[in-house]
Amino acid sequence: MKKVITYGTFDLFHKGHYNIIKRAKALGDYLIVGVTSESFDIERGKLNVRDSLIKRIENVRRTGLADEIIIEEYQGQKVSDIIKYDIDVLVVGSDWRGKFDYLKNYCDVVYLERTKNISSTKLRSEGIIFNMGIVTDDIQDNGFVQESKYVSGVHVERVFSETEEVARDFCDKYELDSWWNDYEEFLSDVDIVYIKCRQKDREEYIRKAIEKGKYVISDSPAVLSPDKLRTLFQMARDNHVVLIERLTLVYLRAFNQLVWLVHSNLVGDLVSVKCAISQDDFEGGKPFNETVIHAICVVVKLLGKDCLEVNTNAVTDRNGDFVYDMITMKYKTALATIEIGTTVDVEDELVIIGSNGRVTVPNDWWNTGYFEANIAGKEFLKRYSFNFEGNGFRYLLQELMIMIRDKRTECTRLFYDESVKLMEILETINQKG
Ligand code: CTP
Repeated sequence: MKKVITYGTFDLFHKGHYNIIKRAKALGDYLIVGVTSESFDIERGKLNVRDSLIKRIENVRRTGLADEIIIEEYQGQKVSDIIKYDIDVLVVGSDWRGKFDYLKNYCDVVYLERTKNISSTKLRSEGIIFNMGIVTDDIQDNGFVQESKYVSGVHVERVFSETEEVARDFCDKYELDSWWNDYEEFLSDVDIVYIKCRQKDREEYIRKAIEKGKYVISDSPAVLSPDKLRTLFQMARDNHVVLIERLTLVYLRAFNQLVWLVHSNLVGDLVSVKCAISQDDFEGGKPFNETVIHAICVVVKLLGKDCLEVNTNAVTDRNGDFVYDMITMKYKTALATIEIGTTVDVEDELVIIGSNGRVTVPNDWWNTGYFEANIAGKEFLKRYSFNFEGNGFRYLLQELMIMIRDKRTECTRLFYDESVKLMEILETINQKG
């Protein structure tokens, strides 16, 4: 019996999918179709898949052509499948030509011509597109335009700046459709606004956008007072939209997995969270508040909102300039320290110490795909590694699309009361510092 296998995501099942399955079947007596799992697609950076795994499997099953359907869950699985199922022929579309030649040691590899003029990508782009606009006062986009290209259903269309020249230059640089320096007009035709202008101007822009029923992403901190933040969140709720702060860390798989594992006792009871960051290393150098808020976020995500005491130990140089700070956050049974180097270099690292071991996120922990656990009594480190692409913005946008689809009025990765807590802690640091 000649056994054939083919793989795909089969999202928004279309004629091209049917054709390749049919032609694959004709090449043998028994056909196995591998459908990619959700986590495998996310892992390889394919964030835009619409249909659930169950639906995609069901669509393949309904062709009546597959004798067996399996799930493709990880890179390198094809070799083990070929051996496990004793496969004679692997079939893939011509878009993959050459890419699977290495499998010729195991079975025949056949590349079939793709069906013309149809693809899941094309079908996805025909759905509803959310227009995005950016509010800026310089011509840097923090990777927003490029990152948005990896998320389906969104398009960065326009830019607003108070300065006409900045708006025009930004528009040219990122090849957007239009630039504006009248905020009302700018808002008239956008669904999502990304606000990245200087801190003191953000509140006004956020407020106006929410009033007009727009979803808002703002650089963090959005405002510098917990009360004002509370008011903005309430406005977002009242207007049935979401206000998201750009703390990309909370949207990363690695970080969520880390929080989950730590909370499920990976290293026992938490005793200490040590988080260090050099201001210069964070996104090419950001102001103190914008840098330290990420570290506070890590602490609150790990140790919770019930922080009893916040202290700051700022160090200034001979000229009185602020160069270094060691912030401490006291909890009932744990202590967090945030070490921040302003002009001096500290080693960027996140270390979580528990009663039964230690978790370390080396280097730039704010956009990590990797962490390791050193557990008491275990001879080897446990290593956790996840794919991480770009600067993390795409994962936030992807979550925002889910929130919009589900008509949520609160971000579930960082709840509004958690955000307000971050702001309260930051306010204390600024008052004491
Ligand atoms: N395929 C095909 N003809 C098309 C589209 C896909 O022959 N017009 C084949 C692919 O080459 C692959 C299989 O169908 O072998 C599954 O492809 P998949 O990546 O799931 O579909 P695409 O439409 O290419 O999806 P996307 O646009 O997301 O890449």
